[in-house]
Amino acid sequence: MTSLAVCPGSFDPITLGHVDVVARACTLFDEVLVAVGNNAAKSYMFSLDQRVTLARLALAHLEGVRVEPVRGLLAQFCADNGARAIVKGLRSSADFDQELAMSLMNRHLSGIETVFVMGDPALNHVASSMVKDVARNGGDITALVPDGVARAIATALGRS
Ligand code: PNS
Repeated sequence: MTSLAVCPGSFDPITLGHVDVVARACTLFDEVLVAVGNNAAKSYMFSLDQRVTLARLALAHLEGVRVEPVRGLLAQFCADNGARAIVKGLRSSADFDQELAMSLMNRHLSGIETVFVMGDPALNHVASSMVKDVARNGGDITALVPDGVARAIATALGRS
């Protein structure tokens, strides 16, 4: 039987930090399903469909990886897809505080466990929110995001 991990997130947009976490998940599980969802606490630059498209382009080189939108509860999505675990990346204790509550809620809802992998320290400063802020203020983000994402952000900012 193959083991499937779900890697969930907003991915607004996907960064090299996300790609690193998905690649790590690939070393632990046979298949990885990247679940692009909506976090009620956030407002987004990209629509759900745009975020899925960018993630698919960025992860196309990784074997055994699929990307799908999550329109309802992540816990239900994991159960529907027969996921063995959720995999998320941690950069800091601030990440942990946020992720702890979500992992406990997801386990409460469907029994799914969350496995945390430590992000590459070289990418510790890479967060979607910061990437967008740097881009909004004219900074160079090409070393922080996969090919195509910097262009998508420029378009979203009306700069193409
Ligand atoms: O990248 P993020 O913002 O940490 O991702 C959060 C996300 C999208 C994974 C989370 O908000 C989520 O699972 N949304 C789907 C709806 C849901 O299940 N909400 C309860 C989460 S405990």
